[in-house]
Amino acid sequence: MGLLEWRKEYVLGIESIDEEHERLFKEVSALARALLNDPKEKTLNSIPAEMASDLLQKIKEHYQHEESWMQEKEFPDYEEHRREHERSLTELTTVLQEQAENRLCGIVLAQVVEKLDRHVLEFDKKLGEYNAYKDKII
Ligand SMILES: [Fe+2]
Ligand SMILES: [Fe+2]
Repeated sequence: MGLLEWRKEYVLGIESIDEEHERLFKEVSALARALLNDPKEKTLNSIPAEMASDLLQKIKEHYQHEESWMQEKEFPDYEEHRREHERSLTELTTVLQEQAENRLCGIVLAQVVEKLDRHVLEFDKKLGEYNAYKDKII
């Protein structure tokens, strides 16, 4: 199974967050694939500014949504997760805006998918676990 595919492993069991994850993954993966496969776009070696800012905005909104959820549910590791969002946004901004290395757009977007994949599996999964646990004891 390729990195650019949506995986069942990503599911947290929190519908509103899962839907956003799925949309975000599918959108960026489709874009990365299109850029890697289209002969015209294949050699496009800098992410168009509009595409980069649009994508960053969507990710930022998603992070804000998760942060509101965590606050509302009194998630104990809120601060750590919020800091990770901040770090991740800085990193993604650098990846998306880095033009100096002349990397192909499709590859840059595949790296964004990889970073999102890691964030969901390392951090967001804990929201799902917490949610399921809380439901059982309250
Ligand atoms: Fe997330
Ligand atoms: Fe998150």
